[in-house]
Amino acid sequence: MAFAKSSVTTSIIAILLASRLTGAPVKADLSAAAVEFFESKIRPVLAQDCYECHRTHGKKKGGLALDYRQALLEGGDSGKVIVPGDPGASLLIRAIRHETDDLKMPKSRAKLEDSVITDFERWVRLGAPDPRDAPPTEAQIAADTDWPAVMKRRQGWWSFQPIKAPNLASLPMVGGDNHPVDRFIAAKLQEAHLSPDGRADQRTLIRRLSYALRGLPPTTEEIDGFLSDNRPDAYERLVDSFLASPRFGERWARHWMDSTLRRLAWQRGRRDDSLRVALPGLPDSGV
Ligand code: HEC
Repeated sequence: MAFAKSSVTTSIIAILLASRLTGAPVKADLSAAAVEFFESKIRPVLAQDCYECHRTHGKKKGGLALDYRQALLEGGDSGKVIVPGDPGASLLIRAIRHETDDLKMPKSRAKLEDSVITDFERWVRLGAPDPRDAPPTEAQIAADTDWPAVMKRRQGWWSFQPIKAPNLASLPMVGGDNHPVDRFIAAKLQEAHLSPDGRADQRTLIRRLSYALRGLPPTTEEIDGFLSDNRPDAYERLVDSFLASPRFGERWARHWMDSTLRRLAWQRGRRDDSLRVALPGLPDSGV
């Protein structure tokens, strides 16, 4: 045991030494991975969504500047906004999660994407590594917030990524026809230490399907019809009939009207991009 322990220690020291000698010239106290994470996931968001109101030289709302490390760690009128290692206790995280009504950031704008909020939580958990030694110059701010920078960030959005064939080999087998979708779900369930529920009976199935597609319960006639339909493709037929129903269109149009249109309306007022041309009739959000 003693031997194993000391050899592990020796290799760790060797690895540390090697990375010191060969690693990129980053600040002594930050790993290259931490800097990369900050530069790719955190800095662009701070620059585009926060600097405007939270700057050392310029608007410093709530007494808070977020444009370099020391200012960020000092915090604002309420004190510290970051507790390194503890996202839940960090005011900045609570503000971007919109946890309380009186502090929702970025102020008067759409909430940040969930994936961005997750990145910020991860960053704080890592100890909020921040390589920014000094406030940015006007030129740096311009470079971080101009249209090419915004465009570059938006191009990272998942739906713009080229389609690639995922590797199925590592996924668990689930039985039946082992459909890849079921296997992906099984992998996520395993990760969360959950086991799948049993198969739903026919009555539960039609009820779930009806709510999922039309937002309404099935009628008694529909339930009876489905229960007595013994054709092998009875379920496919049921899905088709729900998809063909005007209720299906209404249900999904409502989501679209609620979220997408509202978001576009916000953006029209806040961003100087092509949406202004695409949606000239939308009211200005005034932000
Ligand atoms: C349009 C201006 C604006 C933008 C953009 C903005 N904020 Fe704020 N922020 C404010 C104002 C104003 C306050 C003061 C509290 C209030 O009035 O809500 C504030 C306060 C805060 C506070 C509390 C400071 C304290 O000590 O009380 C935090 C944390 C914060 N903002 C984080 C952010 C983050 C993170 C972003 C970017 C994702 C951001 N803000 C973007 C205007 C803005």
